Amino acid sequence: MRIDLRSDTLTQPSPDMRKAMLEAELGDDVYGEDPTVNHLQERVARMLGKEAALFMPSGSMGNCVCLLSQVAPGHEIICEAKSHIINYELASLAVFGGLLPRVIPGVNGRMDPDDIVRAVQPKTYYASQTGLIALENTHNMAGGTVLEPEYMAQIREIAHRYNLPVHLDGARMFNAAAYLGVPVVELARYADSVMFCFSKGLAAPVGSIVAGSAEFITRARVHRKRLGGGMRQVGMLAAAAMVALDTVPPLLPADHEKIQRYAGFLSAYDFIRFDPATVQTNILVFQVNHPQRTAADLGGYLAERGILCHVFGDNIRFVTYRDITFEMVEESLEIIRDIFRHYF
Ligand SMILES: Cc1ncc(COP(=O)(O)O)c(C=O)c1O
Repeated sequence: MRIDLRSDTLTQPSPDMRKAMLEAELGDDVYGEDPTVNHLQERVARMLGKEAALFMPSGSMGNCVCLLSQVAPGHEIICEAKSHIINYELASLAVFGGLLPRVIPGVNGRMDPDDIVRAVQPKTYYASQTGLIALENTHNMAGGTVLEPEYMAQIREIAHRYNLPVHLDGARMFNAAAYLGVPVVELARYADSVMFCFSKGLAAPVGSIVAGSAEFITRARVHRKRLGGGMRQVGMLAAAAMVALDTVPPLLPADHEKIQRYAGFLSAYDFIRFDPATVQTNILVFQVNHPQRTAADLGGYLAERGILCHVFGDNIRFVTYRDITFEMVEESLEIIRDIFRHYF
């Protein structure tokens, strides 16, 4: 038995999704003629309280297109130090957009609003100018932590003061909304551009989407095509995304419960370190702080017993998702207990 906790991108499409993909009505989306894609885009725009939306092949392309569509080359993007856009997107903002990240170290994925104000460049001709503030909710590498609407409103207010747009990397914003018990529009309302992924906890096989004003989406369509993201009969993927929206959000709290089970178990061991208050959604990041064993050692022992996870530095990340059942959680806890007994 393999229990793969590396990422929620590992979800397999449900039978409903596969059926919807087979039966989807299709057209050429580069001509704007795929009815299933158009329907999905209209639905998401409404759901997020925006004028328009655009389907994307990936979250990385979605983030990149949002930045390129709002910020001119030579400008700065204020973003959090562990954010996905500057750590795991191959410097696309610099390569394709000529943009410079202005990095602020956050606490649990949250930049201090005063630090943001200090990071806004003065309006002098010899300083590169600030072009946008980027937020990530939930924050992946901080351990799936949530930015609540009050915080986002505060950032929005700062952005208004300096006439800057806000971008929300909401790859997992449905997890944030589930944690907060609010609809996703309550998070989207503080951002000018929003990206979320269907291919993570929402369990669709491929696809992300961006949303914003109609004028922003017109520009985003150009940048998507320029990056090679113009897709044709992509309604097959939009159909699966539609089923994801119909069926998966109510299941997300169960994924959060599964991660709580791991957190509760691991908190009993003093060589495992994490702040329980930061375990909020479907991600758990913990440090291995042992005199003889490293995080890589633990990752290796787990892999030998069929449990896969993400190891980075002293840290290990577990991610739960629909295909990880409660039985698999209990089984993996037995294996972890056994590994700790033998090697730690
Ligand atoms: C917070 C965040 N943003 C963006 C992405 C990019 O999504 P994709 O893998 O579809 O490019 C990810 C992927 O893990 C992510 O965690």
